[in-house]
Amino acid sequence: MGASSFLAFFTFSVILVYQPFTSNANFHKTKLLRSQLLLSQNAKRDIPITKYFQVTKPIKLPKTKPCSTLVLQHDFGYTYGKPPVLANYNPPKKCPSQNFSKIILEWKATCKGRQFDRIFGVWLGGVEIFRSCTAEPRATGIVWSVEKDITRYSSLLKNPQTLAVYLGNLVDSTYTGIYHVNVTFHFYPAELEQHFHGFNRHFGNLESGYDSSADLVLPISRNLPLNDGQWFLVQNSTDVQLKEFTIPRNAYRAVLEVYVSFHQNDEFWFGNPPNDYIVANNLTGLAGNGPFREVLISLDGKAVGAVYPFTVIYTGGVNPLLWRPITGIGSFDLPSYDIEVTPFLGRILDGMEHKFGFGVTNALDVWYIDANLHIWLDSKSVETKGTLIEYKSPTPAVSLVSNFSGLDGTFLTKASRSIYSSGWVESSHGKVVTHSFQEFSFTNFMRMGKNGSLQIVSQTINSNCSIDSKLPSHIYKARLFQNSPFYLYNENVDQGNGSYTSIANVSLGYNEESFLGQSRFGFLASSLKNVQNGQGSIVVKGNLVTSGLGSTQQVYNYDGTGGCFSRNVSSSNYTILYDKSGNHCSGSKRHSSGYLFGRWRPFLAV
Ligand SMILES: *[C@@H]1O[C@H](CO)[C@@H](O)[C@H](O)[C@H]1NC(C)=O
Ligand SMILES: *[C@@H]1O[C@H](CO)[C@@H](O)[C@H](O)[C@H]1NC(C)=O
Ligand SMILES: *[C@@H]1O[C@H](CO)[C@@H](O)[C@H](O)[C@H]1NC(C)=O
Ligand SMILES: *[C@@H]1O[C@H](CO)[C@@H](O)[C@H](O)[C@H]1NC(C)=O
Ligand SMILES: *[C@@H]1O[C@H](CO)[C@@H](O)[C@H](O)[C@H]1NC(C)=O
Ligand SMILES: *[C@@H]1O[C@H](CO)[C@@H](O)[C@H](O)[C@H]1NC(C)=O
Ligand SMILES: *[C@@H]1O[C@H](CO)[C@@H](O)[C@H](O)[C@H]1NC(C)=O
Ligand SMILES: *[C@@H]1O[C@H](CO)[C@@H](O)[C@H](O)[C@H]1NC(C)=O
Ligand SMILES: *[C@@H]1O[C@H](CO)[C@@H](O)[C@H](O)[C@H]1NC(C)=O
Ligand SMILES: *[C@@H]1O[C@H](CO)[C@@H](O)[C@H](O)[C@H]1NC(C)=O
Ligand SMILES: *[C@@H]1O[C@H](CO)[C@@H](O)[C@H](O)[C@H]1NC(C)=O
Repeated sequence: MGASSFLAFFTFSVILVYQPFTSNANFHKTKLLRSQLLLSQNAKRDIPITKYFQVTKPIKLPKTKPCSTLVLQHDFGYTYGKPPVLANYNPPKKCPSQNFSKIILEWKATCKGRQFDRIFGVWLGGVEIFRSCTAEPRATGIVWSVEKDITRYSSLLKNPQTLAVYLGNLVDSTYTGIYHVNVTFHFYPAELEQHFHGFNRHFGNLESGYDSSADLVLPISRNLPLNDGQWFLVQNSTDVQLKEFTIPRNAYRAVLEVYVSFHQNDEFWFGNPPNDYIVANNLTGLAGNGPFREVLISLDGKAVGAVYPFTVIYTGGVNPLLWRPITGIGSFDLPSYDIEVTPFLGRILDGMEHKFGFGVTNALDVWYIDANLHIWLDSKSVETKGTLIEYKSPTPAVSLVSNFSGLDGTFLTKASRSIYSSGWVESSHGKVVTHSFQEFSFTNFMRMGKNGSLQIVSQTINSNCSIDSKLPSHIYKARLFQNSPFYLYNENVDQGNGSYTSIANVSLGYNEESFLGQSRFGFLASSLKNVQNGQGSIVVKGNLVTSGLGSTQQVYNYDGTGGCFSRNVSSSNYTILYDKSGNHCSGSKRHSSGYLFGRWRPFLAV
């Protein structure tokens, strides 16, 4: 299945290269938005190597000296449809301390020439620890690096493992870029007096809640050997990919971490028009199924969680010049999504095989999905017990209001879903009742104008997730509110000589607030406001961008109990116009109650 779908992708690029213009050329041009644009190369020797980056807050590190290991050095040339590159990982035995409070994965790469944006994944013993997109090179060369906190995979890093990296690249006389990559792990020994360090990072995965990382992380991915990534490929709306697993009988908590990325016909799912419109206009080769997508995760056939994915735009998306050097939110470090499955533990503690399933509502070819099951074990018992108390998964509400005539019109798509579960688990920590609630709402307004050559998309995704754990004596609550606004204006103007101009404005935002504590809502523990605006214009011939300009502005404000970070940066035509960052807290609603933090220490780690 993997090999054939990559062939499909390959065919897709080739068709685009030789695609003749037709009367409904505008739609084919719209399709060219889909990361298939390349920049024509005119190397100027005086241009230095360009450094690309993703705006995010620095990882809070202990003040100790890290032990660093280069785990992989590889040149990704023609790797398409080949097995992942493997390396042996060994824990850093020579490090003076083996008590690490922070472990960082550093991806560093250089590339030169012409190349598409390539998706890649890094797995350790089948557990995905990093998913990302490469930067698109220039003739004069680029460099970028990404640091990811992988402390939550600590249990895995204590033992030798096989590291697998899949980056499907294609090199020929047109696509000349070879990715030269180093993957390094940095192990930071704990500080002596370290109490709450590292806590904040875990807010990023609030649903996982607790400060300490899991005792065991099980891969819910495809096994090696494979000529592809270890992710599952979900190719249509009825395709459900299943993975069997067994857990130890003394588990008391479980969180499923899901990795998701969307490609080819669904790379821009949020801009896909409804099928009625495609059929009525006899459009062929245009990706449809409307703009709503939802990843559903099932356990033995029952929906246990959903993901309304963030609209990551890869480095070649919309207008490749927008993402140089400031890359799109999430594109260098794709988000993973946590689903609390503790309420269901009682059903899988029997030592038997169970199945997780992954499906995508309205999916078109192809989605890459896999997951990691983080499990906490009761060191004081060989068996725990549990029961699901309550489970509600109401039929989701989905609506579409269309109004179009010919190629112009409007479409309003709305959807919402909630999943609630509660269950108890009895271990040496007592009988703990966990309530897990996920609620999502989705609104997408799409307008086609100027006889289909103009498309405007305005979309918002909101999600509320909460986890309450009730112990005999305490209740711990964690809430996460997420809001992702997205706006795209794109107009293609035919130049009548086999080329066209594409004008695009994009606004991409990610906002989140997390609350912790014992009262009804707890206290605001962190808030993040992250917004990117981009404007650009390119002239496209075939699938080559012959000239153009892209400008991007980004404002990032993080405010948390463990510290604050803000950055205000702007670029145009590869050049940074301004770049200001600081550690001032805006301190709006958040309580400056560092000690409360301590009260929300994981009960299980105590
Ligand atoms: C709109 O596009 C269709 C299909 O490409 C074409 O047949 C039609 O002539 C166009 N109409 C106008 C007003 O340009
Ligand atoms: C990778 O590491 C090697 C050895 O330290 C170094 O020579 C090379 O420049 C590094 N490459 C990158 C992309 O950082
Ligand atoms: C590791 O360091 C932390 C923080 O200093 C300390 O609480 C813990 O006891 C240490 N663990 C071991 C096994 O030394
Ligand atoms: C959906 O995808 C699966 C897996 O590739 C395939 O077996 C099935 O035939 C597809 N269904 C449709 C309706 O295309
Ligand atoms: C679509 O094709 C059908 C059948 O060939 C034709 O009757 C109809 O006029 C076409 N519609 C458009 C909008 O081109
Ligand atoms: C549909 O669109 C047309 C043209 O823009 C407009 O005149 C009409 O009022 C719209 N109908 C509805 C129900 O919104
Ligand atoms: C989430 O919570 C907020 C505040 O309680 C509420 O206004 C909103 O309707 C909830 N649901 C969603 C899907 O955002
Ligand atoms: C096509 O026309 C546009 C606008 O008239 C011009 O800028 C561009 O250079 C032309 N492209 C080619 C390949 O002739
Ligand atoms: C695109 O953004 C620029 C700069 O903000 C603005 O001047 C222009 O009007 C915008 N264009 C559209 C079509 O929204
Ligand atoms: C970011 O910096 C620019 C340039 O100094 C300024 O105009 C803008 O107001 C700043 N934005 C924020 C949110 O601080
Ligand atoms: C972008 O910068 C290059 C030099 O680095 C310059 O030659 C070109 O004219 C600039 N483009 C625009 C649209 O300003």
